[in-house]
Amino acid sequence: MASNRKMLVLGGDGIGPEVVKEVLRVVDWMAKKRSVSFDLQEGLVGGAAYDKHGTPLTDETLADAVDSDAVLFGAVGGTQYDDLPFEVKPERGLLRLRKEMDLFANLRPAMVFDAMADASSLKRDLVSGLDIMILRELTGGVYFGQPRGIDDLPDGTKKGYDTQVYTTPEIERIGRVAFDLARKRDGRVTSVEKANVMMSGVLWREVMTNLHKAEGEGVVLDHMYADNCAMQLVRNPKQFDVIVTDNLFGDILSDCAAMLTGSLGMLPSASLGAVDEVTGKRHALYEPVHGSAPDIAGKGIANPIAEMLSFAMALRYSFDMGEEADMLEQAIQNVLKSGLRTADIMQDGMARVSTTVMTDSLLKEL
Ligand code: NAI
Ligand code: MG
Repeated sequence: MASNRKMLVLGGDGIGPEVVKEVLRVVDWMAKKRSVSFDLQEGLVGGAAYDKHGTPLTDETLADAVDSDAVLFGAVGGTQYDDLPFEVKPERGLLRLRKEMDLFANLRPAMVFDAMADASSLKRDLVSGLDIMILRELTGGVYFGQPRGIDDLPDGTKKGYDTQVYTTPEIERIGRVAFDLARKRDGRVTSVEKANVMMSGVLWREVMTNLHKAEGEGVVLDHMYADNCAMQLVRNPKQFDVIVTDNLFGDILSDCAAMLTGSLGMLPSASLGAVDEVTGKRHALYEPVHGSAPDIAGKGIANPIAEMLSFAMALRYSFDMGEEADMLEQAIQNVLKSGLRTADIMQDGMARVSTTVMTDSLLKEL
């Protein structure tokens, strides 16, 4: 069982390469202690790729990503790139990867580890045991819709505009993923839009309702407006199981849900494409929810757990290694229980540790 696990590692910018490096230590451990080896390849993305090649993603790296079983991604961006033209900004590298690999389903779990329930901005009883999944449509909607632009108007002012577009097949395929996930969880899907004020929302609700009638066996579907959902997420987050929503609302609501868990530094994500009917494989990219954190980059204090948990998702969804994923998650639980904390999740009475020391103890737990 060697070497058919192709993983492309793209550290990116800022703390991206720092946390990815820690995951590679776990990959190393797996090769040595569990005889599970990965066919690893490394590449540049974001500002790092721009510095070397003048583009945030080269065609070669894109081809490697498409050819891989999974991409392990760090983060991109940094203040030194703020003045670059829009098309070569570091973020464009990630957006292009998502678009070209057709990664339309973004899974963002929000889970509260026992040892961390006091780190939430909400009261312990509101979040303890929280385990919800936000499923965000990732390749459509207002971030990609045409027309978009900034036009000069005759009166000397300007007009900036974007277009929200969703088609029936786009809504159906994300709806299917939502129902599949729900069947493996508590069987409930909340579909979120603003059908009260947006036509794309009217279509979204109609398509989800029809899809549920046709393919939603065993799943309870309800609908909620996005603004209400934001409110409910901070009022009573445990009412949800799977939330499925569009690109823009999903971006905002998943960040909101993220904070229920206490820290950005703890949150993984997976972005999946459709299953290829011939090969049975699907494109996948795993990345932490957080960005490149320029404020702490290079200081050795970044929390590696979000990247670790992203790798655990890769083990589970791309490499059929659920057992190893469980082991890794359990080791993280144990390290947190033992009282070790990176600065971002520091609590009274706990021991503050660096990025590498956090991984050292994780490896010891493993
Ligand atoms: P950010 O997530 O990089 O940082 C927000 C705050 O959380 C900072 O104070 C940071 O120090 C802290 N933080 C984040 N991850 C952490 C970790 N693992 N350990 C400890 N502390 C952590 O978001 P921000 O500041 O809005 O963006 C910084 C740059 O990252 C920008 O260039 C932005 O465009 C980019 N970005 C990239 C993303 C990606 O690559 N997927 C996602 C979000 C932002
Ligand atoms: Mg966001």
